[in-house]
Amino acid sequence: MATITQQVARPKVRHTQCFIGGRWTASASGKTFGTIHPATEEVIAEVAEGDAEDVDRAVEAARDALENGPWSTMDARERGRRMFKLADLIEAEADELAALETLDNGKPISDARAADLPLTVDALRYYAGFADKIHGQTIPVNGNFLTYTRREPVGVVGQIIPWNFPALMLAWKWGPALAAGCTMVMKPAEQTPLSCLRMAHLAQEAGIPDGVINVVPGYGPTAGAALVRHPGVDKIAFTGEMATAQTIMRETAPSLKRLTFELGGKSPNIVFADADLDAAAQGSHAALYFNQGQCCCAGSRLFVEDSIHDEFVERLTDMNNSRRLGDPFDPETEQGPQIDQDQFDKIMRYIDIGSSEGAACVTGGQRFGEQGYFVEPTLFTGVTDEMTIAREEIFGPVLSVLKFKSIDEISRRANATHFGLAAAVWTRDVAKAHRLAAEIKAGTVWINCYDVFDAAAPFGGFKMSGMGRELGEAGLQAYTETKTVTVSLD
Ligand code: NAI
Ligand code: MG
Repeated sequence: MATITQQVARPKVRHTQCFIGGRWTASASGKTFGTIHPATEEVIAEVAEGDAEDVDRAVEAARDALENGPWSTMDARERGRRMFKLADLIEAEADELAALETLDNGKPISDARAADLPLTVDALRYYAGFADKIHGQTIPVNGNFLTYTRREPVGVVGQIIPWNFPALMLAWKWGPALAAGCTMVMKPAEQTPLSCLRMAHLAQEAGIPDGVINVVPGYGPTAGAALVRHPGVDKIAFTGEMATAQTIMRETAPSLKRLTFELGGKSPNIVFADADLDAAAQGSHAALYFNQGQCCCAGSRLFVEDSIHDEFVERLTDMNNSRRLGDPFDPETEQGPQIDQDQFDKIMRYIDIGSSEGAACVTGGQRFGEQGYFVEPTLFTGVTDEMTIAREEIFGPVLSVLKFKSIDEISRRANATHFGLAAAVWTRDVAKAHRLAAEIKAGTVWINCYDVFDAAAPFGGFKMSGMGRELGEAGLQAYTETKTVTVSLD
């Protein structure tokens, strides 16, 4: 993609209704909600506010598409071809979709173009290639029997996604679901419904049959909860807050729906004195501040070895002081606003708590500008393991720096959390790196890098950071059921 140097134009909003059974419809109640541009706080568009009745209709459409074809009876290779077509259509429209993400989410246009959209296309292509490669095994069993397994679609999937990477979280869920032959109802986050609705249109254009993908925009406790409770839904795939996942688990206990969760973290990022400090400083800065700190895997606990602590903090301070905040449609902008007032307030509260518990606020700590939900890149030093800002997910541009003395203490401290999503280690010593890679309880460990994602590499959490994995073959397995067939040969 060409580098952009000029202010990017605001995209048109083309779709604001529910997408059910291949048709655009108002919500059953007729209600709408405003989705806002977080940099200016203005309402961009009124979007259909789906609720239980819309979810009912969407699940019915998905059930019909699952059981009556043509999706379920189509050759697997043809399913794959249509998925490739969808990826092509998204790629052809990537600039406009990136602008739609910037409008709805507030993320810098340069990030949306360089990260969100290419990764979205890549994830869909990766899973398109799997559509005709999902197969069972023949298994030698005792006696005169032929035993084989089939991997069948798990069924109708309810997919609930967050607002931090709207298009990408969609691709992580549509990709494996489509490849496996499932049908789905997606509820995008109420803050960011627009790219999902546009991609539903593109899916139809790509030849994904009506009813296979349905979208019901709306709020969590209404539309989301209705999807979770719906008896016609076989699986819920959710990304968001731990407490929401706990609610979903309680709600699905009676039906024992399949569940996959990708939740938050308080990921340790560990820098040894023997690391390439330029790379480590840049990597540690991006690990936390990328996407306004709104990343589930943000490197929010930065452990720095004692002997380089002050020098390292100086590098981070310089980077924070020169970070460009402002209009996310300006290609020079590095940091945009937080997603909404709630998140802004939550972050400011944590900044207050950090100061009151005795950490030193070295950069930031304030709102930036007078309009929009901007928070200055904030850095706390003197943070100890017990402090609230070292334990709880802040989901904003607030970095906690902790000191450590030796490798012997570090995995215990890194693991002293109920989270376990990601971690990173910066060192030139391979023995140290691999020792920590084994000792740290996290779904992903990066060594001398951070935030390296690939559609083929499984991603998900240990402990309370999640259940199951997305991406890779592991991500696909979560969308199939294994059926064992045994034939008597007597
Ligand atoms: P959330 O978990 O409430 O929202 C995520 C999605 O779940 C949205 O689509 C929402 O409408 C839906 N939802 C909410 N309540 C629901 C319910 N009862 N039943 C079904 N669906 C429901 O997260 P929220 O409130 O947007 O953010 C709160 C915190 O969660 C953040 O500050 C952050 O710490 C964490 N978070 C983590 C994310 C991740 O990538 N793992 C993404 C977003 C938030
Ligand atoms: Mg919530």
